[in-house]
Formats: sequence, structure tokens, C-alpha cells
Amino acid sequence: MKEAEPTIEFAPVVLTLQRGQRVTVRAIRPDDRERLQSAVRALSEESRYLRFMGVLRELSPQLLELALHPRVGRELQLAAVVGEGAEETIVAGARYSSEAGSTDCEFAIAVTDEWHGFGLARRLLELLMQSASRHGFARMEGYILASNTRMLGLARRLGFVAVESSEDPAVRKVRCDLTRRAGRSGESGDRSVAR
Ligand SMILES: CC(C)(COP(=O)(O)OP(=O)(O)OC[C@H]1O[C@@H](n2cnc3c(N)ncnc32)[C@H](O)[C@@H]1OP(=O)(O)O)[C@@H](O)C(=O)NCCC(=O)NCCS
Repeated sequence: MKEAEPTIEFAPVVLTLQRGQRVTVRAIRPDDRERLQSAVRALSEESRYLRFMGVLRELSPQLLELALHPRVGRELQLAAVVGEGAEETIVAGARYSSEAGSTDCEFAIAVTDEWHGFGLARRLLELLMQSASRHGFARMEGYILASNTRMLGLARRLGFVAVESSEDPAVRKVRCDLTRRAGRSGESGDRSVAR
């Protein structure tokens, strides 16, 4: 058990993706309401289904509020953005969350379709893992549809293993021991700049 649950802060990071695109990753803000809904609407139906495991066109008011106001010490919600000011657009989102007092956390990621295949999800998951490790979480878990081979492969390459789950057989549960990853070369933390 953690003794305290410190605020999960995240200093913005500028990433350079595989084709040289620059994307800023920052913590979500309450004023991201429209940007976030636009990003969810911009996902293809398939991507929305893979992310939310259900059919939806946009976030419900409750889900939107939860996303815009992460629980202190228990959640981190990141937005990957391009453009500035009124032109700023969310192109991907990534989050982890935990139950009070638990050292386990759960991740989820979605990248808008036109940004697929440039390594953004990989970078976002690495950032989530670094942050969670730094904030005292011991394990990160994810629930991924069995058909989502891209996400399953990415998770495996970042050190996640499939674990037994008595839940829906169409869903794979994956887990990574963050304590074993600590100190691995290449990990530089939230404030790291683009590689
Ligand atoms: C799964 C998802 C997050 C991957 O995002 P991404 O930014 O395209 O992923 P990356 O570019 O980091 O690539 C991840 C892996 O998928 C592979 N990949 C990416 N795009 C691909 C494509 N179009 N065809 C085949 N493989 C592809 C990459 O080769 C990479 O493998 P690597 O780790 O060996 O390099 C994205 O497809 C998505 O948002 N899907 C819908 C939501 C979802 O499935 N979320 C996961 C539930 S938590």
C-alpha cells in the first residue's frame, strides 16, 4: 500500500514521431472538453470499439467529466496534441487509473486513425509506465480485445504478459511488473525530451 497519494503531475513532453511529426504530450485540462469530444468522434468506428469495447459515437457526459477531471493521485490522463491556440487538436489520448490505496493501475490508449503507425502509442505507453513507476505503482494492467493484435503486440514488446482472467474470453488481460522495469536503460522520465 502506498502511504500517500501524491498528485500525479506531468510536465509536457515534445515527441518527434517516425516521420518527423512533432506532437506535444501534456496532461488533460478542463478546457479540453471540445477537443476531447472531437478526438473521440474522429476515431473510426473500429477504433472506438477497440478502445471502449462498445458502440459509442462520443463520450457520455459522465465519461467526459471523468476524463477532464482525473482523480488526484489516482489517475493520469494525457492528451497528445498538435497545433496551437484555437488550432490545437487532440490526436491521441492515454490514461492510467487506480483504485484508492492500490499499487496496481490500469491503462488505456487511443490514437486517431490518421496518426496510426507512427509510433505514437508506443511512446504514450512508455510515458504512462514511467509516470506510474515514478508515482509508486508496482503493476500496470490493461484489458485488450483478443482481436486487437496491434495493441497486444505493442504491450508484449513493452514487457506486458498475458495473465489469467475469468472475465470475458474475448478480452485479454495483460500486466507489467513496473518494479522490474525500473532503471532499464532508455527510461528517462516524465520530463524527458523527445528521442
Ligand atoms: C492500438 C493503437 C493504440 C496503436 O496506435 P499506433 O500509434 O498506431 O501504434 P504504434 O505506431 O506505436 O505501433 C504499435 C505497433 O503496431 C504496429 N502497427 C501500427 N500501425 C500498423 C498498421 N497500420 N498495420 C500493421 N501494424 C501496425 C506497429 O508496427 C507497432 O509495432 P512495433 O511495436 O513492433 O513497432 C491504435 O491502433 C488505436 O488507437 N487503436 C484503437 C484503440 C485501441 O485499440 N486501444 C487499445 C485498447 S487499450
